Amino acid sequence: MLSRRVLLKAGAAAGVAGALSAAPPVRAAAPAPDPFVVRLPVPPVIEPVLRTDGFDLYRMTLREADTRILPGVTTRVRTFDGHFPGPTVRAVRGRPVLIQQVNRLDHPVAVHLHGGHVPQPSDGHPMDLIEPGAARTYYYPNDQPGATLWYHDHAHMLEAENLYRGLSGTYLLTDEEEERLPLPRGRYDIPLMFRDAALAADGSLVYDVHAMAARATLMVNGVARPYLPVAARRYRLRLVNSSNDRVLALRLADGAEFTQIASDGGLLPAPVRTTAVALWPAERAEIVVDFGTRRPGQQVVLENLAPYPGESAEVMRFDVTHRAADPSRVPERLRPLPEPGRPQVERTFTMTSDLLHDRYLINGKEFDMDRIDITPRLGVEEVWTVTVPADAYAMAHTFHTHLAQFRVLDRNGQPPAPEEAGLKDTVGMMPGDTVRLQVRFTDYPGRYVYHCHMMGHSSLGMMGQMEISR
Ligand code: C2O
Ligand code: CU
Ligand code: CU
Repeated sequence: MLSRRVLLKAGAAAGVAGALSAAPPVRAAAPAPDPFVVRLPVPPVIEPVLRTDGFDLYRMTLREADTRILPGVTTRVRTFDGHFPGPTVRAVRGRPVLIQQVNRLDHPVAVHLHGGHVPQPSDGHPMDLIEPGAARTYYYPNDQPGATLWYHDHAHMLEAENLYRGLSGTYLLTDEEEERLPLPRGRYDIPLMFRDAALAADGSLVYDVHAMAARATLMVNGVARPYLPVAARRYRLRLVNSSNDRVLALRLADGAEFTQIASDGGLLPAPVRTTAVALWPAERAEIVVDFGTRRPGQQVVLENLAPYPGESAEVMRFDVTHRAADPSRVPERLRPLPEPGRPQVERTFTMTSDLLHDRYLINGKEFDMDRIDITPRLGVEEVWTVTVPADAYAMAHTFHTHLAQFRVLDRNGQPPAPEEAGLKDTVGMMPGDTVRLQVRFTDYPGRYVYHCHMMGHSSLGMMGQMEISR
């Protein structure tokens, strides 16, 4: 049974799909592939070039590469290290990671670790560019709880196209407490990056910042409609919505329950049984699916409850191929949430868009690199009220802040649903929604941004800047 809450989520996502498709001219969709002919690729885990007592050093080259999104068709993409999506970084809390990024593309880039608690020079601020031919080493202290983070380009006004053309990958941070839990691990722990794109007949990516609903090819780990052979046991699936602008509402086509164990900032306090999960752009959800309730030979399709009009709901398929021992389980308690402190500062953010004039604003302003919008102090508890007014041309937006995970205090006056009550760095909002969140920046002064993570919107100005000080 779909609960009321899940239906609401799916409805919100479908509403977004409808709202988006109403606006832009719809380009012809890419030729439909035969469903499920390609096996799901799992991005390779990158090996360090140097391991010392104190840190792991990685090196990635940003360069163009050819990939196959649809069978038999070659697509030129921008990549981290030749992979689409980029290689997976596996990190452990307390052990810093350095990544040297070498830019062999012909335009500037900036690499941001989304959801990461990182010092300002390593945040990939839109002004901190790596010029073509140059390199930069980013330092990630990994001083936060384990979480499914992801990295992507953030170069000023280029981020949307860079992300669209392929510049993203997952960064899986774990910690000792999490490792002690009996969750599925190893090859039963798989990242699934979902995103869409518009493909021309010759396979090339078509980028039009406004034509969101024309991006009819939905991919998982860089290929359209893959299948994944699975054992009849539990899997931990790390769902990442790396789409520029698409909202997803995912469920198993047979309506089977699964368990959500984590959101953006890592493990939830307790598992949440559900039949659907909504993912706004940049959001993550980790779920444990028990294929052990099925027999070898059975298949189950993962569906998107919020397809654009005319689009198939089928996203990928799990093919149960064999039995396997399953020592894993989902414990009743995962990770306690810290008690938020007493709020000391309040701020409001109003996200407005004016479709007619192509303006995307926060508190009435477009992003300006030379303007500081807010000046939070380290250690201070802040409550941010974020609103998307329901005016005539209102669109859905998301709100993401760099540097810290926050807590959702309430959504339209109601306590957050359990899956939204954990550590978060991105929330989605329909027109008329108000979300209150509590955030505290604990370390690292300097300039960081917050923005709508519908990358089309942020690249058109829906971003603000904060100067964090001691
Ligand atoms: Cu994924 Cu500025 O963010
Ligand atoms: Cu971010
Ligand atoms: Cu937006």
